[in-house]
Amino acid sequence: MTDKAKETATGAAAATGLRGVVVGQSTVSDVVGDKGELIYQGYNIHDLAKNSNFEEVAFLLWNKRLPTQSELDDLNQHLSHSYAVPGDVIEVMKKAPRNADPIDTLRTAVSALESYDPTARDISADNSRKVAIKLTGQFATLVAATDRIRNGKDPVDPLPDANIATNFLYMLKGEKPSERDAKLFDTCLILHADHELNASTFTARVVAGTLASVYASVVAAIGALSGPLHGGANTNVMKTLLDIGEVDNVENYVKKALAEKRKMMGFGHAVYKTEDPRATHLRQFSKEMGERAGDTKWYDMSRKVEEVMMREKGLFPNVDFFSASTYYMMGIPLDLYTPIFAVSRITGWTAHVLEQYADNKLIRPRAEYVGERNTPYVAIGDR
Ligand SMILES: CC(C)(COP(=O)(O)OP(=O)(O)OC[C@H]1O[C@@H](n2cnc3c(N)ncnc32)[C@H](O)[C@@H]1OP(=O)(O)O)[C@@H](O)C(=O)NCCC(=O)NCCS
Repeated sequence: MTDKAKETATGAAAATGLRGVVVGQSTVSDVVGDKGELIYQGYNIHDLAKNSNFEEVAFLLWNKRLPTQSELDDLNQHLSHSYAVPGDVIEVMKKAPRNADPIDTLRTAVSALESYDPTARDISADNSRKVAIKLTGQFATLVAATDRIRNGKDPVDPLPDANIATNFLYMLKGEKPSERDAKLFDTCLILHADHELNASTFTARVVAGTLASVYASVVAAIGALSGPLHGGANTNVMKTLLDIGEVDNVENYVKKALAEKRKMMGFGHAVYKTEDPRATHLRQFSKEMGERAGDTKWYDMSRKVEEVMMREKGLFPNVDFFSASTYYMMGIPLDLYTPIFAVSRITGWTAHVLEQYADNKLIRPRAEYVGERNTPYVAIGDR
């Protein structure tokens, strides 16, 4: 019996937050917490970050293998055909208040998209894969459009020949990014693409387990991602850095936060007990962005926070810590960091949804009931 299976059998059933409880099998990804390893369908994340690209990784997650050149060309063509979103969905987004949180607008837009896809309720393997490709193509367009619309600007049409990373930065800013920025952002997308049964992916699988549509599963996942303990952490990291203001303020700020039992966003992890392998790359990106801008202030401040957190709490930074300063230096608005997470994680969510449909069992755990029993009913007038 594997360690994981033993944990399940010995029933950490009432474990708070289901920590360490194995609820099923998956080939999509594995998080090896004590070694700091992340594997997508057999491939180490470091190898993929160094050699691959986001579209190829999407293919890998959905198909359990890397594509041939013609398969990748074919996928890119399908993704490109999906970049544009129905005009009516853009109209729905325009109805959102200017101060709506972009992650909420994304969730609403994906919900609306389902009504414009006549195949939405067809959850056959073939169609679900097509929906996965469609949504992956559309997410960058939706997130960039949200930002344009709330700033009173027209959405920018996607470039049919550009990849998702280039297109996102182009549609956000209205001008083509440098090759290096696009490459760096593409690697960020690879790093965020999947992470085993994190809260939003588990949510997606629970919804898919009822045989609800891919869209419904993804809408629920976006809701789970939006929380500050999950995908919402990256925005809060940058807010914290801005609040700290200067490297010299870090020590006192962090110590005060910890003394007040406040959590420092971007630190700690439910599974990793050592360095999060994604943080290794993002730390480097934050440094590079600072050096290229001629101002490493945010990187230096982040390093100092990292040093104090390690000394005071023994906690490592997670994926959200250095992605915050990286995105900030790319000129991306703070509240888009969580939607950007979704632009990447849509591939992992849908890979898990495909896997769930392929061997489905309704997910229905039990709760340990700790309430009263046999309480006599008292009529409302007598209470
Ligand atoms: C990610 C997270 C939810 C993992 O939770 P977990 O492993 O179940 O750990 P817990 O929340 O139970 O915390 C365990 C202990 O470490 C502390 N801790 C964990 N993360 C901390 C953080 N970011 N800052 C300060 N203390 C932290 C807790 O206060 C707790 O201390 P205590 O035992 O003295 O009460 C948690 O680390 C966290 O909230 N991090 C900040 C949010 C974040 O960055 N989320 C993105 C995750 S990728």
